[in-house]
Amino acid sequence: MINKRRIFFQQLITGSAFLAAYPWLAQLKNIFEEIDLEKNEERYWKKIRNQYSLSKKYIDLNNAGVNPQSKVVQESVSFYEKLSNEIPSLNMWQIIDKDKVIVKQALAEMIGCAQEDLAIQRNTTEALETIIFGVQLKKGDEVVLSKHDYPHMKFAWNQRAERDGIKLKWVELDLPSSDPPYILEQFKSQITNQTKMVCITHITNWNGQVYPIKEIATYAKSQGADVLVDAAHTIGQRNINVSELDIDYLASSLHKWLGAPFGTGVLYVKKGKRRDVYPLFAGPNGKAKGMHKFEHLGTHAVSHERSILPAIIFCNSIGIERKRKRLQYLKMYVVDQIKTLPRVEILSPLDAENGSAILLFNIKGIDSAQLCKDLKIQWKIHTTISRNENLDGIRISPNVFTQTSELDKFIEAVRTFVV
Ligand SMILES: Cc1ncc(COP(=O)(O)O)c(C=O)c1O
Repeated sequence: MINKRRIFFQQLITGSAFLAAYPWLAQLKNIFEEIDLEKNEERYWKKIRNQYSLSKKYIDLNNAGVNPQSKVVQESVSFYEKLSNEIPSLNMWQIIDKDKVIVKQALAEMIGCAQEDLAIQRNTTEALETIIFGVQLKKGDEVVLSKHDYPHMKFAWNQRAERDGIKLKWVELDLPSSDPPYILEQFKSQITNQTKMVCITHITNWNGQVYPIKEIATYAKSQGADVLVDAAHTIGQRNINVSELDIDYLASSLHKWLGAPFGTGVLYVKKGKRRDVYPLFAGPNGKAKGMHKFEHLGTHAVSHERSILPAIIFCNSIGIERKRKRLQYLKMYVVDQIKTLPRVEILSPLDAENGSAILLFNIKGIDSAQLCKDLKIQWKIHTTISRNENLDGIRISPNVFTQTSELDKFIEAVRTFVV
């Protein structure tokens, strides 16, 4: 898979037609030829940092909210905006939009499916709701979802339940958990022979918990249910191979860990399932078998969609596995220094299998909203709070450009709050 991916990008980067048409591919190639020579780990990541245009005022520890784009992605957006503005209806609709297939090929290569299985969307919310409002369900059908799913997933299913009499079965989880069989059991306990759909969040926003999607999906399918995966935090953070998972639908945002332009996402629908899902925005044939029926959005930002490609190349030039290891290292750098502080309670799984780039913790006796505010005003550190079910705390999510000196400042701040 990795070799195949390398070959694909190598071809993309070295193809002279591409270099002439898309100058930043050559630029990226040069940048990474230079960066790859760096053998010192910290200097390597410093060079990666230089590829971003980050705030000089704040330290950004809320990358799980949305990632900044690397400079090369920003340049690509500007390039296509400029090109669009020369003659919009020609350049956007007849030229740039045609490249969508290259973007989808690269995405498909990244997540292990065919480009025909994908539709470009604006975000996970849109992709999820396309499925939630598009699948054919009738009164009494059951849908299994978790109380730790993202609010929009819950809002949309609540609305569908209200309108169509669908029964929602809620999975309750005591998180964090480093026990995948426990999570699987909680899903199993809600799945019955009336279950038509099982929704699984791959990595939850609340505390970074990773769910055992493969095991849950296999069980759900064995019971005759379809499977919808919310992979908002997956693409660009962890390797995923859709063809190895028995799932029907997957939704992801590309402006999160992939660092693609804001307002970009993707929807995967398994072959054989598409005909029966109505699109949110109607096209000529709601019963069509192709994914294009999910792309009838009207006029939209093709410059952003087109610039998903340099984001993929940038991400692959680092390598997802190397990125994941760095994110785990940065998380543990913080954990190791705060976990023994008085009143600090870690609320995320810490091991690499069950945890991710997101760290949730709380300082007993201190309101997390106040702490978040103080961090921003007094320390110029941007974090967020995370409150849902049994979880309540400060959520941090460093990125590949985060320096350990920034984390030292954060740790110093935490120390002042616990004394
Ligand atoms: C787990 C999860 N699902 C869905 C979403 C929605 O993503 P977007 O705002 O890109 O639609 C988010 C956003 O943070 C999320 O964390």
